[in-house]
Amino acid sequence: MSNTELLFKTPADAEWWRSSVIYQIYPRSFADGNGDGMGDLLGVTQRLPKLAELGIDAIWFSPFMKSPQKDAGYDVADYCDIDPLFGDLNDFDALVAEAKRLGIRIIVDLVPNHTSSEHKLFKAALAAAPGSPEREMYIFRDGKGENGELPPNNWPSVFGGNAWTRITEADGTPGQWYLHIFDSSQPDLNWKNPKVLDFFDDVLRFWLDRGAAGFRVDVAHGLIKREGMPDIEVADTTMGGAKPESEMTLEELEIANPYWGQSGGHEIIRRWRRILNEYDDRVMAAEAWVMPLSRMANYVRADEYHQTFNFGYLETPWDRDKLEKVVTESLVEFGKVGAPSTWVLSNHDVIRHATRMAYPLDKLPKQGDGIGPNNPQPDEAMGQRIARAASTFMLGLPGGAYIYQGEELGLPEHTTLEGKYREDPTYFRTNGERVGRDGCRVTLPWEAGVNESNGFSSTGKSWLPQPDSYRKYSRDLQEGVAGSTLELYKRLLKVRKDLGLGAGDFRWAPEYQDKNTLAYINSGVLVLSNFGPDAVVVPAGEVLATTQHDLLVEGELEHDQTVWIKL
Ligand code: NOJ
Repeated sequence: MSNTELLFKTPADAEWWRSSVIYQIYPRSFADGNGDGMGDLLGVTQRLPKLAELGIDAIWFSPFMKSPQKDAGYDVADYCDIDPLFGDLNDFDALVAEAKRLGIRIIVDLVPNHTSSEHKLFKAALAAAPGSPEREMYIFRDGKGENGELPPNNWPSVFGGNAWTRITEADGTPGQWYLHIFDSSQPDLNWKNPKVLDFFDDVLRFWLDRGAAGFRVDVAHGLIKREGMPDIEVADTTMGGAKPESEMTLEELEIANPYWGQSGGHEIIRRWRRILNEYDDRVMAAEAWVMPLSRMANYVRADEYHQTFNFGYLETPWDRDKLEKVVTESLVEFGKVGAPSTWVLSNHDVIRHATRMAYPLDKLPKQGDGIGPNNPQPDEAMGQRIARAASTFMLGLPGGAYIYQGEELGLPEHTTLEGKYREDPTYFRTNGERVGRDGCRVTLPWEAGVNESNGFSSTGKSWLPQPDSYRKYSRDLQEGVAGSTLELYKRLLKVRKDLGLGAGDFRWAPEYQDKNTLAYINSGVLVLSNFGPDAVVVPAGEVLATTQHDLLVEGELEHDQTVWIKL
């Protein structure tokens, strides 16, 4: 049984990001303003009042920069311009202004690990000779074997296949190989080259000067590769690489995963933090898939990132004991470096939690692999129930919370998407063996039945088709409807803000729990979740929010339900 000591206390006068709720927009799929079936900045600006009503503090945008879209924008060809698919810089300025009016900050995605192969720097590298300064911007190596016909090492691409591609030199002969930890259209930059650092300083300033509140940094744990780039022993294509054994030392972890989480990367972060500090209250959040959390916490030391996504939490199933463990570990480990924890359950790379959390654990595909028509199909009702309970548990925790677009509607994963619609490079690089991430990237339903895309676009077009089930999750059907998932989220965010839970303090509440329930108290609010089969009596107090529609004071909390009570 857990003890009752205070595990976490938010410092006085905490900065905004220590308690913020940040909403992730995947620009292709949020709202289409021009009717071409692809989401865009205009569409977002038009729908912004809906996000203000939801009660968020900031939006993180997945990339909208100029890109050939080989990896949905995570292949940037120009860091300081908007892709015409999404609009232009004027649209961005209009968006920032409207968001500011509504009290919402805009965070942009920074993709520093790799550029697009269409970026002018990479084109220059291809045109230049081996060993030239142009090649030094990227990671080019001669191949192994008699004629350099074998890749320089055995690293796999996260998306499947080899992480190296051989080029043809300007004179037409087979040439060097370049590293791409992701798709071959995403060559890795050489972060040991000071010119790469200089280049990105300007990119940061460009967006900060334009009013961005900061950055979500892509593959923040991958920039520095281990000296000598040694072969790896275990090929694991998840973003964190080989799962660390808890008894491994930091050094051993770095050897096992030679392109993830190398300690040399921290100097870069400090440099960026100094740039951010020249501005007012800007923020940087790291996508750093490094485990255990004690290691992840190194990314949020006082002079490094402000936040890092808590993937340990995201990967925790709906399991009472595991949840208790990961929350404790998060608060303690991040607390040691003076950082708040963040909390996140879904994003554009993982199976939506309304599907994932009810899926049989032993059948759950690996992170990034997705669920397709050939996998067992999920239990939708159970997914809804658990996702609501899990989100309600999460949003009471102190620290920063992330919401992925559509989870406030309870959207499940699209698990029957046909191959012909798929765009994720994972699907193509594995010949469809791993279906990839398109199932969590489907467009949002706004108005049920107005057209085929349920109002996502005025024409009904949608770059990925919605499953039939999305109609019933449409925002307009949930608005103002007591007990809907949308109204639940609105209520949770309102209470969270009114009572300062994001900037609160935390202790477990063993006096309110048993082996099937988990309870904590944040700033006088009891959050209680029931994981077991039997209903439990709800303690006396005012019910502030609940996933169970008919719950009354001193009623019974059923299984897979969560309640917030003002004691
Ligand atoms: C992580 C991003 O979240 C993912 O969508 C992308 O494919 C890879 N990084 C490569 O940029």
